Amino acid sequence: MNSNSSDLGPESLPRHIAIIMDGNGRWAKKRSLNRIKGHREGAESVRDIVRVCREIGIEVLTLYAFSTENWRRPTREISALMGLLKNFLKSELAEMMENGIRLNAIGQIERFPDDVLDVLREVMEATRKNQGMLLNLALSYGGRDEIVMAAAKIATEIKSGRLQPEEITKEVFSGYLYTHWMPEPDLLIRTSGEMRISNFLLWQIAYTEIFVTKTLWPDFRRAQLIQILRDYQERERRFGMTEEQIQKAN
Ligand code: FPP
Repeated sequence: MNSNSSDLGPESLPRHIAIIMDGNGRWAKKRSLNRIKGHREGAESVRDIVRVCREIGIEVLTLYAFSTENWRRPTREISALMGLLKNFLKSELAEMMENGIRLNAIGQIERFPDDVLDVLREVMEATRKNQGMLLNLALSYGGRDEIVMAAAKIATEIKSGRLQPEEITKEVFSGYLYTHWMPEPDLLIRTSGEMRISNFLLWQIAYTEIFVTKTLWPDFRRAQLIQILRDYQERERRFGMTEEQIQKAN
């Protein structure tokens, strides 16, 4: 597979890539290893993919690192994931600064243990002014929760008279989501072959191109991403319009 990124035309690169990183457990099982080893190898894929995205000029990379449903996993696995996240944040800070990467988190991060939260907040603060790429981690994130949270905030605004019901539009609603200051994802990738959205960015992916690959997340590296980006560049995004309208607009 040709994994050279130099022939990717910058004109039709996605601004925002979102990834459902799935298959760490299956990767480990295939090798008769503990699931946690799969997550550890998965963290290496995170490092690689962040580097590639920064290199090719992606503006926002959103990674589904921990869903609200993931709290149901065995305590040992949850602790291992927290440890991996903390180590990742600590070990990558220098490289994030060097490469101008800003870290952000979306989700109910206050549910995280204090030690993880402290590191997360420190790295977000330290990288706040970086403008090279936004690395957006979805942590204790659920799409329905996000939409409910937005609706509740809007209800409060209306109750206090700061907003009128007739002023609610799609744009106004989007303004109450975690992602209100980011472009919507152009490309959503899910690894390990499952054809599900799993409560990820439900509002934001209305017009997103979806790619599902059978590759398990720990095996998903530069070459696989470049291949998907090539496929993406071949696709035509119509946003509900006809082919003729799109051609005229270009
Ligand atoms: C899905 O695999 C993956 C997760 C639930 C967590 C993703 C975490 C990482 C990639 C590692 C650490 C993250 C960062 C940001 C450093 P699964 O366990 O559901 O796999 P399975 O479906 O094969 O069991």
